Amino acid sequence: MSLIAVLLANIVTVSLVFILTTAFFFYFLFKPSKSSVYRFPPGPAGWPVIGNLNILDMKKPHETLCQLSEKYGNVFTFHMGRQRCVVLTGYETVKEALVNQADDFGERGMTHASTVFSKGAGVVFGSGESWKTMRRFTLSTLRDFGMGKRTIEDRIVEEARCLLDVFESHKGDSFDPIININSAVSNVICTIVFGDRFDYSDPQFLRLQQLLRQNIKLGISPAMRLYEIFPFLGSFLANFKKMSSNNLETQMYFSNYYHERKDIVDRNDLRSFIDAFIAKQQEEEIKNPNTYFNEVNMVSTAGNLFGAGTETTSTTLRWGLLLLMKYPHIQEKVHAEIQAVIGKERPPRVEDRKDMPYTDAVLHEIQRFANVVPMNVLHQTKSDIDFKGYRIPKGTPVIPLLTSVLFDKNHWETPHKFNPQHFLDAKGKFVKREAFMPFSAGRRVCLGETLARMELFLFFTLLLQRFKFSLPPGVRAEDVDLSPTIGVTNAPKPYKLCAIRQ
Ligand code: HEM
Repeated sequence: MSLIAVLLANIVTVSLVFILTTAFFFYFLFKPSKSSVYRFPPGPAGWPVIGNLNILDMKKPHETLCQLSEKYGNVFTFHMGRQRCVVLTGYETVKEALVNQADDFGERGMTHASTVFSKGAGVVFGSGESWKTMRRFTLSTLRDFGMGKRTIEDRIVEEARCLLDVFESHKGDSFDPIININSAVSNVICTIVFGDRFDYSDPQFLRLQQLLRQNIKLGISPAMRLYEIFPFLGSFLANFKKMSSNNLETQMYFSNYYHERKDIVDRNDLRSFIDAFIAKQQEEEIKNPNTYFNEVNMVSTAGNLFGAGTETTSTTLRWGLLLLMKYPHIQEKVHAEIQAVIGKERPPRVEDRKDMPYTDAVLHEIQRFANVVPMNVLHQTKSDIDFKGYRIPKGTPVIPLLTSVLFDKNHWETPHKFNPQHFLDAKGKFVKREAFMPFSAGRRVCLGETLARMELFLFFTLLLQRFKFSLPPGVRAEDVDLSPTIGVTNAPKPYKLCAIRQ
């Protein structure tokens, strides 16, 4: 062996020994003492440093957690690397925590990545008083700009018509609808956030969406899991660096927009969420220079609305079209109901929903089956708490597993089958199901639920009023793969469809 090879082998060995020694040192340094007053739920034994990550299916982590709950029960401990998390599964347990003990479980759990990227600002990753202030302001401003009202309903219908035109332009030929659906849905929230919509071909708009999609994919990559265990490796991990630069670029866009508007906002003519934020900031700064209404919170909150308001709803719509192509008999029934209740000419309105039990059931079942946020967003305990005989310390990360609620076999007759009957009684009337929880529950429940439900109903009915959707020639229903792609959200694999005018 040459001298260089020996030297290299020595360097590798020394580096490995150094990394392992450091890891073990940190593990034992921070290991909780055995005489702890806390009582954690049971769970699989973990390895030093990596915890239970060796048994986690990186492509479907929610499924591993569901399987573990069969063995350890509805409350169990899972070590995400060094981080000891409590996993909650099944409707009763998740509801008991998020609703009955809402305060105890209402804090947002932070990973190393969410801490670095959000700095604890905004709504999704905010906490304490700052979060409370941002959530309250955001909800009331969204309402002022029409969330849940006729104004936004008209806006959605207008936007859906632009989408219909794009679909129509393909003249029945097959195409991938992802970019256009994303753009249409995104434009609804953009109208509120910026006071204006973007053209579907606007390069800046497409860039923002691309950054968002990339980060959703990268967020769950093995490299990011490694980063959570060894955050000091960040600057060596390409995926972390890419996520950071994507994040920075998005934030810069919001920040530049904020600065453009800051000095010209007319308090008597607030055109957007950002305008309303600036006006509030100017008002608050006079009374309190340390107000939470600052640029960092503005950039974060507007970014949250853009991200959360685009990805989840458009992914659900894409699942919906795919499922209806796979099950054409269900699509036919939806067509028939739209025809009977709305007809071909007038656009659907939200109040039609109550007269359309089948369509309503199909939409609910799409959301249940699509399971778009399978792991929920991480929570954490607010203080030392007692829950189901366990004593869990303050700051423990908690995963209220939405998959386990949406597929809870004690609540759904055929949990793993796409079956709109889950939401219909024997007479075909719509029935609400308590385990329908795609927006989560409690203090952190999705802030955009009303908007999302309105968008889903209007986009879906407008699309099906105009088109019959079918698979491209040569693709059979049984070929449709319903397993999701890997990402923070559960999205369908890319697919093509044919939109045939009817
Ligand atoms: C089908 C569509 C949607 C689904 C399935 C969905 C689902 C969720 C879920 C599961 C959470 C986490 C709740 C928790 O931590 O317990 C969440 C939070 C959130 N969502 Fe949505 N969402 C959707 C649409 C929207 C829209 C359209 C908006 C924007 C207006 C939005 C804004 C937010 C925000 C700001 C939060 C953070 C709330 C907080 O931490 O206080 N979401 N969403």
